[in-house]
Amino acid sequence: MKVAIVGCGNISRRHAESYAAAGAELVDVADIVPAKAAELAAKYGARAHSDATQLLAATDAELISVATPPGSHAELAVQILAAGRSVLLEKPPVLSLAEMDAVASAERASAASAYVVFQHRHGSGGVRAADLLRRGVLGVPQVAVCETLWFRPRSYFDPEWRGTWVGEGGGPTLGHGIHQIDLLLHLLGPWRSIQATAVRLDRPVEFEDVSMASVVFESGAVATVINSLLSPRELSRIRIDTTGGTLEVNHVYGYSDADWTFHAVPDAARAAQLGLNPGVPGNAEAATGPDQWADSAGDDVPSNHEAQIQRLLDDLAAGRSHDTTLASTRPTMEFVTALYASAVTGTPVRRADLVTGHPFYRALRGDVDQDRIDAMMRI
Ligand SMILES: NC(=O)c1ccc[n+]([C@@H]2O[C@H](COP(=O)([O-])OP(=O)(O)OC[C@H]3O[C@@H](n4cnc5c(N)ncnc54)[C@H](O)[C@@H]3O)[C@@H](O)[C@H]2O)c1
Repeated sequence: MKVAIVGCGNISRRHAESYAAAGAELVDVADIVPAKAAELAAKYGARAHSDATQLLAATDAELISVATPPGSHAELAVQILAAGRSVLLEKPPVLSLAEMDAVASAERASAASAYVVFQHRHGSGGVRAADLLRRGVLGVPQVAVCETLWFRPRSYFDPEWRGTWVGEGGGPTLGHGIHQIDLLLHLLGPWRSIQATAVRLDRPVEFEDVSMASVVFESGAVATVINSLLSPRELSRIRIDTTGGTLEVNHVYGYSDADWTFHAVPDAARAAQLGLNPGVPGNAEAATGPDQWADSAGDDVPSNHEAQIQRLLDDLAAGRSHDTTLASTRPTMEFVTALYASAVTGTPVRRADLVTGHPFYRALRGDVDQDRIDAMMRI
């Protein structure tokens, strides 16, 4: 397959390496900074362009990665889809539900498709967890915890565009926690309502540097979600307590199989059946039966760009539908939107509330002026 990349900064290298590893041919790249396009093009024998318009006029690539800053994703995706090429959008795919719907409408009008990079759906642990939970093999999810506790020093916000609604679109909820939020929703299914708090404790930003949410899912499961940029020992963690045990992944920027654990629920009835006194420490645990999690292990595929891009190309080659379509990421953008709406307004937000005319449909800051946001977020 022939592929192209728009935006030749940091993360474009992961796209280029992953395409090469999957046997795809990188034929064109573009960046508004010509030296960046030239450097990536030289490494892979691709043609360099100064913007997406020039690239689209020249390329015969079927799939084009967009690895530019988030504010440009929607416009570029619409342009690429209108040119009949499929697009792989870096996270966050867009900055608002309005932008997401604009890209979805361009996709409907095109023969091509839109996909999103959420690589944590694609490591072997995530694939197994989603499959086993969907089939009920690990029990029914009841309680979950989703943590993105990362650290970005004040100097991270030195570039002028960082820390601003216009430049970044939002804080750690949108830019950082969105990875674990997407995986949580991928594992637990549709959410119903959110009550959230977002605060600015330290960093020089227009939005939050920490956010927290209580979430109720359609299934009745409940979760807490925290996103922080103030946490020196970084971790990314999802823990799901089901009727069958506790499933947990604990990593920072990418997991492998070793980062996943499943502790089956102690089974006192089974211990008694087996003639073990369930009151004796260890007997109930010893009688938990087959270890469904360990038994499902296969090849260990870490959750990185290579994992997702390999699966995407395999799916396209086989004519299968790919897991991480634009449409499949709408609940994640709805979640992020509702978190901001709840934090800024101080009221719970239901997923059903997020209709086209909702005040936060067009922007994560809603229709609220900066003074009020400052008053809400500064403690
Ligand atoms: N999936 C992940 O784990 C992951 C990790 C890091 C970054 N990202 C995402 O990747 C995207 C890019 O991040 P980055 O760290 O590579 O940023 P970056 O600033 O290093 O690179 C962005 C590049 O895009 C170019 N650019 C800007 N506007 C453009 C336009 N309209 N047309 C063509 N080129 C344009 C810039 O000149 C720059 O070279 C962001 O959306 C970010 O959130 C994802």
